[in-house]
Amino acid sequence: MFDLSRVEIEAILKTAEGLRTERKEGKRTSNALEGKSLALIFEKPSTRTRVSFEVAMLELGGNVLSLNRNELQLGRGERIRETAKVFSSYVDAVMIRAFQHSTIQEFARYASIPVINGLSDLEHPCQTLADLMTMKSYKNSLAGVKVAWIGDGNNVCNSLIGGCAITGMEISVACPKGYEPDAKIVKRAAELGCEVNITEDAEEAATDADVLSTDVWVSMGDEDETKSRKNAFKEYQINEDLIQAAKEDVIVMHCMPVHVGEEMTEEVINSDKSVIFEQAENRLHAQKALMLTLLN
Ligand code: CP
Ligand code: NVA
Repeated sequence: MFDLSRVEIEAILKTAEGLRTERKEGKRTSNALEGKSLALIFEKPSTRTRVSFEVAMLELGGNVLSLNRNELQLGRGERIRETAKVFSSYVDAVMIRAFQHSTIQEFARYASIPVINGLSDLEHPCQTLADLMTMKSYKNSLAGVKVAWIGDGNNVCNSLIGGCAITGMEISVACPKGYEPDAKIVKRAAELGCEVNITEDAEEAATDADVLSTDVWVSMGDEDETKSRKNAFKEYQINEDLIQAAKEDVIVMHCMPVHVGEEMTEEVINSDKSVIFEQAENRLHAQKALMLTLLN
């Protein structure tokens, strides 16, 4: 997340907000990215990331290729470095969803085109752009907004910490011992003046929060730990009781997919506090703005 500055994030959000307004007025297509191609490489499943990037490119007049890693020679042992060089001669940008963050970093090292993290074990920055856009639309500005993350200090949490630090928000993370966010990211946030409050107490984190956010207890790649994770996280659920601790006008967020009855109750998902579908929609607008920034 720290690859983007505050000025760059503000510019992306402004463009994304303009695109959202235009689309709601029925202006869906432009030719701003005519002749440009984006490749999406997936090592893991995806609904929102894949569909929002595909539709974003199509509505901007560009081309998009969605590729499963195992359909490529990568799946048969071709090295990342040669793959990155070859992709650089065909397409204008690549988005990668990878198990290991180092896969994306290595691809970027050898590519001569922009490489976008579409989720790794460490980060999910495209999700954070949509999250910031969603928070801004409800809270008007981001600086000073108090965010509480409930549950796993995972990839989505790590990028959100970065996003909060860059834009001047406060963030508390409630998680069981052993599931804290990445220490290096927490340290970089502190260097930007954002001291992440890490606690085991979900109610403490939620107290007076403007935003409550969470994610699944078992991320893609963590399936072997399903039993121990479900046990560790059972006190880390966004439910009506937890909402009572937050501010009256709190919004509830989740990057989705949601595991109903685990990290969030059915009641909360369907309550007027929940903004999860706008959050998902904002992936489209934020990524359009990102592609315009990277490819124009
Ligand atoms: N939030 C998110 O990235 O969803 P997908 O896994 O469906 O892409
Ligand atoms: N933390 C989740 C996010 C899914 C969008 C995972 O990595 O599976």
